[in-house]
Amino acid sequence: MDQRDADTRAASRRLLATSERELQRIVLDMHDGPVQDIFAALSQLQVLERALAGDAGTQQRTRQAMRLLERALGEIRNFIGAFRPPGFERRALGEIIEGLAVQHETLTNQAVELQLPDDLGDCVLPTKIAIYRILQEGLANGHRHSGASRQRVSVARRGGAIELTVADEGRGFDPKRVLASEEDVGVEGGHFGLRGIQDRVEMLGGTFALDSAPGRGTALTVTLPLE
Ligand SMILES: Nc1ncnc2c1ncn2[C@@H]1O[C@H](COP(=O)(O)OP(=O)(O)OP(=O)(O)O)[C@@H](O)[C@H]1O
Ligand SMILES: [Mg+2]
Repeated sequence: MDQRDADTRAASRRLLATSERELQRIVLDMHDGPVQDIFAALSQLQVLERALAGDAGTQQRTRQAMRLLERALGEIRNFIGAFRPPGFERRALGEIIEGLAVQHETLTNQAVELQLPDDLGDCVLPTKIAIYRILQEGLANGHRHSGASRQRVSVARRGGAIELTVADEGRGFDPKRVLASEEDVGVEGGHFGLRGIQDRVEMLGGTFALDSAPGRGTALTVTLPLE
């Protein structure tokens, strides 16, 4: 790697850590701002709803407004839950991976078979954040799209790199078609996930492989250099 490549790589690492910090700030702001406001509005509406006992029509509308606010609160809470920092600085790589696998099982009822060597050790912050976010997206995809009742996750050190695999034996898909279709990236409803994984891998100078075919299941494998 020449000096320019090294500089670019270092800048990308800083950028990844910075965007993660930004994300945590957004999550906290949402928790302290809109969530508290919606909560306060809901309590006010509760009082109003009781006071409207003699006016069935208006009382009904008030209840509808309360349901909408409760739904919004639920959605924001889901978002906050998904992006809450798992304590990247405080906890070692293996521990945050284990935590994420358990959280996935609890939230989805989908089993996660985890292969994690005892001597995995820790790694630098940008790599740790990237592994965590990539695993989060891989598990989410395996839950939302594969139809499988279980997924397999393995993490290992290979040479100077860390290798993560997320695999399922579900319905599979044609990666070439999905990865080639630029047109629906960025429109409402999605398909940011695999693109985001590729971007993270590229920024850290790692490798990305997606092995999938209809009816045969899916295996996502990324490697990220440890230094
Ligand atoms: N494990 C999987 N099993 C089956 N299909 C998958 C799997 N992972 C991805 N796919 C297919 O690849 C598509 C693209 O995945 P990607 O993560 O980029 O977007 P998304 O999950 O649809 O939306 P987003 O991640 O932005 O919420 C999915 O819509 C799905 O068709
Ligand atoms: Mg996805």
